[in-house]
Amino acid sequence: MNAHLRRAAVAVAASATTVSLAACGGAEEAGGGSGGRAGSDAVTVGLLLPENQTARYEKFDKPLIEKAVARLTRGKGRVVYANAKQDAATQSSQVDTMIANKVNVLIIDAVDSKAIAGPVKKAKEAGIPVVAYDRLAEGPIDAYTSFDNEDVGKVQGAALLEALGDKAKDGQIVMMNGSVTDPNARLFKSGAHSVLDGKVNIAKEYDTVDWKPENANTNMAAALSAVGKGKIVGVYSANDGMAGGIITALKAAGLSTLPPVTGQDAELAGVQRIVAGEQYMTVYKRYAPEAAAAAEMAVALAKGEKFDGIVNQLVDSPTSKRVPSVLVPGVSLTKANVKATVVDDGVYTVAEICTDKLKAACEELGLK
Ligand code: BGC
Repeated sequence: MNAHLRRAAVAVAASATTVSLAACGGAEEAGGGSGGRAGSDAVTVGLLLPENQTARYEKFDKPLIEKAVARLTRGKGRVVYANAKQDAATQSSQVDTMIANKVNVLIIDAVDSKAIAGPVKKAKEAGIPVVAYDRLAEGPIDAYTSFDNEDVGKVQGAALLEALGDKAKDGQIVMMNGSVTDPNARLFKSGAHSVLDGKVNIAKEYDTVDWKPENANTNMAAALSAVGKGKIVGVYSANDGMAGGIITALKAAGLSTLPPVTGQDAELAGVQRIVAGEQYMTVYKRYAPEAAAAAEMAVALAKGEKFDGIVNQLVDSPTSKRVPSVLVPGVSLTKANVKATVVDDGVYTVAEICTDKLKAACEELGLK
């Protein structure tokens, strides 16, 4: 763990003790429904993830949550899983199916945080507590776990500024935000603006429909022709998937040197583009603590037990106040700290990152 991460981990642990008392009321009330099965480890956790075009969900979040549930239930708990493939109506019917199948608790990463409010309410009425995962679902949720998403946007904006150095105002930047249905996208965007505004010239800004890399690619191509390829000095991309689409558009425009492009998620493809010098940075979010917190809160809720020991924040959604939450910090990952982050934490091996094409670049970075 690098120094920054260690400091961040200590900060989370310290604030956890401060607010744990305030949070236990929420936890107790939440566990009281008929979904609670005090004492029994044989709980069924319904897990609903929003999409599968972004690598994190099925590569990290799902297996990490399954592992944590198994650990917390001595192998007796079960996870039933559905992926909404970016469709809010599909996710709503997946909630119905989970209710019909009488799961004991739901972990939901919402496609659309507003549209999910009705299904969350239905689950609650059926006695099934709900943990909002990564995105703050509206409706009567019992708990929430995510990253400090406003800070993720600030980390991205600060890295872009650092990459631009004293050239920050010598040209134009393009901003590619995430989907408007995702409250995280709003937070990334406002965090980035809070750092960038006044320090760069923003020529074009897009909210990307469904977070789709191909939409980011189309928008980047449009920005290139509207602004002029020689004038773009940097691109803010909210995540790695979109950074892939953006970099493809920059290359297709025939740029010999690519402007710095940001990202998020430390996807393998993103880390490889960073090593190759095509993408400037990503935000490394450690999914293991996020997934473990979700599993811990979900199993406790299903068993009618408290989970206040791990809560480090009380978060307000537009519909629920003081939701017991666990927020994990994210850190900037550039060429300089590939090893100290994803390699040292065991997320990827050097062999996975350093394909034949990247051998020389990897050697330069001391990745062996
Ligand atoms: C997540 C990001 C992800 C994006 C697209 C956000 O809510 O926090 O990690 O890249 O959704 O799925």
